[in-house]
Amino acid sequence: MNNSFFNNSFISVEQLTKENVALVFTEADKMKQIVLEKDGTDILKGKVIACLFYEPSSRTFSSFVSATQRVGAGTIQLLGMQASSVAKGETLEDTIRTFGCYADAIVMRHPETGAALQAAKVSYVPIINAGDGKGEHPTQALLDAYTIRSHFPDFSQITFCAVGDMKNGRTVHSNTKLLAMLGVKKFIFVSPKVLQMPPEIVASIKQQSGTVTEVESLEDVIGTADILYATRVQKERFEDIEEYERLKHKYIITPEVMKLAKKTMILMHPLPRVGEITAEVDTDPRSVYMKEQMQNGMYIRMALLKLILKK
Ligand code: NCD
Repeated sequence: MNNSFFNNSFISVEQLTKENVALVFTEADKMKQIVLEKDGTDILKGKVIACLFYEPSSRTFSSFVSATQRVGAGTIQLLGMQASSVAKGETLEDTIRTFGCYADAIVMRHPETGAALQAAKVSYVPIINAGDGKGEHPTQALLDAYTIRSHFPDFSQITFCAVGDMKNGRTVHSNTKLLAMLGVKKFIFVSPKVLQMPPEIVASIKQQSGTVTEVESLEDVIGTADILYATRVQKERFEDIEEYERLKHKYIITPEVMKLAKKTMILMHPLPRVGEITAEVDTDPRSVYMKEQMQNGMYIRMALLKLILKK
């Protein structure tokens, strides 16, 4: 199959097609097998990946670093850029050109929407968007879709329900667009009115012939969901901290709430959680966020690194 990722930046889920997603998933299946059988491979031996994180991260950063090492490459790791020349006032463009002199690809997280695209325009090497402000988080979208596929192979039959901060959450911006492209038809977004999904994303789902229901009450809709995707209210995107405090715990998933859900539903969360799901729910067999979803992130990122750096 033609590898459209090779030597290209990966900035948005809009670059994805059914065919190239299938290619990532096939590679991720192989990577999972490799990790389970022999921990890793040296397929990218000699390559170096720079991980430049201008914003906090646990999972995305560590899974990329681990993925890099498990495919045999080396890493330059900057978690927080205050130890780099960014602290001296260097521009994004100059920083990106600099790391492109030492690395074969740059994984980048940045607080500003559009920063990954801005970087890709001047970069000597491929940029992988690991989250740009309220914009996109395309590698998370791939790992979410990969996780969903292992429970529900036929995307056209599922109801995807996301709850929390639809307005500011880049994970739900990316994964709903990707799922609509992959054939999911029914979307339910549960949020307070002020945190509703941006209209352009709702429009893009409808364009792919998906239906969108927007409600405020989780209890009213949870019984119809095949996937419940919980999200954190994105504190760092609020100008008015009192508004954040008022909204942060509007939805809390407890064992009682889970009783209203289908037996076959899966509960996902990109994490970190800050109270949206109580700890008792972790042992519910429907919860996939604490292990499966995170591990899949590493396999997906191993697959992407291989596809971007090897023809
Ligand atoms: C998310 C992010 O950074 O967008 N975390 C992640 O990458 N798994 C979600 C969040 O911070 O709420």
